Amino acid sequence: MENAVRRIGVLTSGGDAPGMNAAIRAVVRTCVHLGIECVGVRRGFNGLINGDAQVLNYYRVSGISRLGGTMLYSARSDEFRTELGMQKAVNTCKLLGLDGIVGIGGDGTFRGLHDLSRHGIAVIGIPGTIDNDITSSSYTIGYDTACNTAIENIDRLRDTMQSHERCSVVEVMGHRAGHLALYVGLASGATAVLIPEKEVHFEEDVIEPIRRSRLTGQTHFMVIVAEGVGSSYEVAEKIREATALDTRVTVLGHIQRGGAPSARDRVTAAHMGYSAVMLLAEGKTDRVVCMQNDKYVDFDINTALGMKKGIDEDKYTVMRTMIGQGS
Ligand code: F6P
Repeated sequence: MENAVRRIGVLTSGGDAPGMNAAIRAVVRTCVHLGIECVGVRRGFNGLINGDAQVLNYYRVSGISRLGGTMLYSARSDEFRTELGMQKAVNTCKLLGLDGIVGIGGDGTFRGLHDLSRHGIAVIGIPGTIDNDITSSSYTIGYDTACNTAIENIDRLRDTMQSHERCSVVEVMGHRAGHLALYVGLASGATAVLIPEKEVHFEEDVIEPIRRSRLTGQTHFMVIVAEGVGSSYEVAEKIREATALDTRVTVLGHIQRGGAPSARDRVTAAHMGYSAVMLLAEGKTDRVVCMQNDKYVDFDINTALGMKKGIDEDKYTVMRTMIGQGS
């Protein structure tokens, strides 16, 4: 069967995530397998606007799966959202002969791809973000690595908190979602976990768990705060006022976005990169590759953007049980 596309571009957009390089490699290698030419578009949609692109061959992507960051650079492009920016991007596709684009990123990336598809360019999205907040996919590339990085750092913090009998307030990323915080809180044995999806009753959700823990003999405490909840410094201040504990704040920040991707992220990226190119080769467009019930599936981008994904309630119940709270 003949491929529906002859030459495609691949780009990474939005916040980078460990595993993006592995996805780029998978896209390129699948193209090579099918006899499709693959062009790396640098700096997200800005690269499409400026014609910042270069052919990627089999060897150019050798050994990149184990590397964090993205070899194509990433950006959040304001210009791409303007009519003129879009027109320039479409002109670049015409000039370079790009029939299709694979975009690796989050919901903003998918919205950009959808707009591009209206100009006759075939597009496929791949979910890549440490936040795991893409509603159409139960898993996003980079999440596992970011969780492990956060846990490793929290374990280190615990050592010093234990020595000084302090309370640690750790802010983790996640944008407006609490997936990362909940997972990390559960894995690190936190005293309390605050996520934006659940209303915070400070006394009941933070102070009482600290007190109960203290009464069982614990002398240091770990409170995980999702960035979407608000200021972790305010949380620390309230704990200090209510308990007189010596409290320290650590904002893990962009540390969580770096580092070598985990096996899970590399393998997920390989599958999703492969699926994206296969879809383009079959003549599909305006779709996003997702994971649902441990299977790789694809959805229309608009449908995907309209989907809802709540917090994992089972995990939330387990976490509450671990800290001695009712569900
Ligand atoms: O979406 C990934 C993410 O790291 C979020 O967790 C965070 O809110 C945001 O990006 C930070 O963005 P920037 O890198 O632009 O500071």
